[in-house]
Amino acid sequence: MGRIAYVDGRYLPHQQAAVRVEDRGFQFADGVYEVIAVRRGRPVDEDDHLDRLDRSLRELRMPWPMSRRALRLVMRETIRRNHLGAFGALYLQVTRGAAPRSHAFPATAKQTVVMTARPLSLPTAESLGCGIGVVTVADIRWKRCDVKSVSLLATVLGKQVAVEAGCYEAWMVDEQGLITEGTASNAWIVTAGGELVTRRADTAILNGITRMATIGIARAAGLRFVERPFSVAEAKGAAEAFITSTTSMIRPVIRIDGVAVGSGRPGGTTVRLVDWYLDHVEAEGRTV
Ligand code: PDD
Repeated sequence: MGRIAYVDGRYLPHQQAAVRVEDRGFQFADGVYEVIAVRRGRPVDEDDHLDRLDRSLRELRMPWPMSRRALRLVMRETIRRNHLGAFGALYLQVTRGAAPRSHAFPATAKQTVVMTARPLSLPTAESLGCGIGVVTVADIRWKRCDVKSVSLLATVLGKQVAVEAGCYEAWMVDEQGLITEGTASNAWIVTAGGELVTRRADTAILNGITRMATIGIARAAGLRFVERPFSVAEAKGAAEAFITSTTSMIRPVIRIDGVAVGSGRPGGTTVRLVDWYLDHVEAEGRTV
């Protein structure tokens, strides 16, 4: 069964789906996006994703292209038409629309809305639990990383460094030598004292929905948790490290720049968080 894309009011076979050549998303990266996990046809943490979309749109001074209720219906229909089965991901993008190329906002352009969806194999405790390697790269992004904009060139370059190093992810490092986040995930460590650490969600990072869910899970489990930056050296010397994101969920980091983290095997706290996070996704897949 072929994939179906939603583009500006129409559901089209993927191959035929297109946007205009002067779309501002294409020419200026003038747009925002969300990636939402889908369990049993239901978007995971949907309200949190739509709240973040609302924030991204507001920060770029873009209105909603349709009501929140209408957007939810289009999401449901895109999911339905793509037969995601047990698990998948929904991609949603809103741009300022197509207009003759000129930097300032166009007076009249109609916003472009695109949605695609694809099935993914359902992550399990085993598949998530095997550790990953990360490399560190300089964080060369702009100063509004809290906005989920489609301007992703710096993270594209960073991820490629990771791939070429045989690693799963690159952790970006600011001018103070502190880790901001991964190219497509948030960065965490667990200290020798068992405290969970992740950077505060300011303008230097994207406030991940998985990050927020993990904070909630950690709090409910009574784990000690603090929001503060950590250096590359601290991460390499930490007891455990892990990443969080919608599609990667929670994955233990066992090597940073080739240096083993802790025992060099997935840490106990991280493995427990993986289990609890999978429970959370299961619960979201049962919501009505
Ligand atoms: N990436 N930080 C960055 C820079 C990201 O791009 C992402 C998500 C995250 C984690 O956010 P969340 O938990 O809401 O997925 C953090 C998505 C998945 C992507 O670009 O594909």
